[in-house]
Amino acid sequence: MAEIKLNSTSITLEEITGTEGEKAFDIGSLRNETGYVTLDYGLKNTAVTKSEITFLDGEEGVLRYRGYPIEQLAERASFLEVAYLLIYGELPTSNQYEDFDHAVTNHTLIHEDMKKFFEGYPQRAHPMGVLGSMIGALSSFYPDVLNPDQNQNDIDRTIHRLLAKSATIAAWSYKNSIGHPVMYPQNRLNYSANLLYMMFGMPTEEYDLNDKTVSALNKLLILHADHEQNCSTSTVRVVGSSQANLYAAASAGVMALWGPLHGGANQAVIEMLQEIYDDGGASKQNVDKWLDRFKDKESGQRLMGFGHRVYKNFDPRATIIKKAADDVFEDLKVNDPLLDIAKQLEEFALNDDYFIEKKLYPNVDYYSGLLYRAMGIPTEMFTVMFALGRMPGWIANWKEMTEEKQPITRPRQIYTGKNKREFIDMDQRS
Ligand code: SDX
Repeated sequence: MAEIKLNSTSITLEEITGTEGEKAFDIGSLRNETGYVTLDYGLKNTAVTKSEITFLDGEEGVLRYRGYPIEQLAERASFLEVAYLLIYGELPTSNQYEDFDHAVTNHTLIHEDMKKFFEGYPQRAHPMGVLGSMIGALSSFYPDVLNPDQNQNDIDRTIHRLLAKSATIAAWSYKNSIGHPVMYPQNRLNYSANLLYMMFGMPTEEYDLNDKTVSALNKLLILHADHEQNCSTSTVRVVGSSQANLYAAASAGVMALWGPLHGGANQAVIEMLQEIYDDGGASKQNVDKWLDRFKDKESGQRLMGFGHRVYKNFDPRATIIKKAADDVFEDLKVNDPLLDIAKQLEEFALNDDYFIEKKLYPNVDYYSGLLYRAMGIPTEMFTVMFALGRMPGWIANWKEMTEEKQPITRPRQIYTGKNKREFIDMDQRS
């Protein structure tokens, strides 16, 4: 319990403890009993929900989906297996997985009328804008999602459609951006292989899938699948709390993820490394110069891919991705000078007082872009890959919130504007 004494009154706040020992005070009655609200920019100290989906410990660098350590899932599960776990709460039996995989695989086609949307976008359109708008448009082709009395089968079908069609939309937006013909999904391929096939296959020849690349993509998608109440997942919950449909909520999630401080960081990391490369490469002098720039607020530049709202230790995903990148680089015999710069920057930053004192470590975005790049994925598609990976997490959070019938999210504010004043006619204004 906590007691708050305010002038002549005092209230006690009930203490809540999570299954991993996290503690909170329930302030649900605060305003009614005291007239006070709390102010917490960025919600750095505020839990907006209880959740059973993902646990992370930022101090210890721990990440678990439904209790399973991310390291084990990344190594031993398929992306759709993890999607099932996040959405339905348990690892699927072989029959459950077969049904789920079949359902998602058989929803990969998009309506042929939707294909025409691509003709309307300029070729230079950023694929995140295309993905977010087309996911929102899915409700136009599947209006059953607007039915307020949907049963579980209806909801599951929408979940299957969203998981399946977002990958096809993503791949086709890439094809549109390079003027290539789209490749229709192949039901014989698993999710990751299908995505690579739709992005890099050509109708004129067989497409040889590289098993290591497929495996690396599967691992990347799993590592991005959920991350408790991050910016985009919180956005999905806020939009879904108004009872807007799942396509609308997911579309909003895509747009929130696009920001360079969030999912857009993987693209920003590569652009940063390229800038450093163009400016003089991985020499100690050049890397030192850039590190000083990242530490200087006046520069307006940050070491992208470093730092995290929650992780004040290594982001466990970054550790796994760095190892996967080394494996893929070796397998594909890729020699990327940007990787050398990234490793030099990381070594210098990890030994620099500024980054040590502020507990800034590499996050999920620091090496993921280099791995996507080694796989031939263009920079502008990096955040799209993040969105496809995060889709099961968004769906799981939307489903948890919806099933709990949580109230519409409508935060309070503290007004600091003008006090009451009288209207002045135009000819009296100076
Ligand atoms: C993701 O929330 C999630 O879980 C997100 C995510 C997910 O899976 O959904 O993990 C994915 O978004 C990863 C983060 C990707 N973003 C970047 O890599 C962009 C660079 N990093 C930052 O901008 C920053 O670290 C944030 C946005 C990630 C976190 O910001 P916070 O928690 O609001 O911290 P802050 O901006 O207040 O920074 C604290 C201090 C500041 O200095 P002071 O004002 O205290 O002097 O650290 C400094 C910042 O200037 N700082 C950095 C820095 N990150 C923070 N300085 C230089 N380089 C950086 N990268």
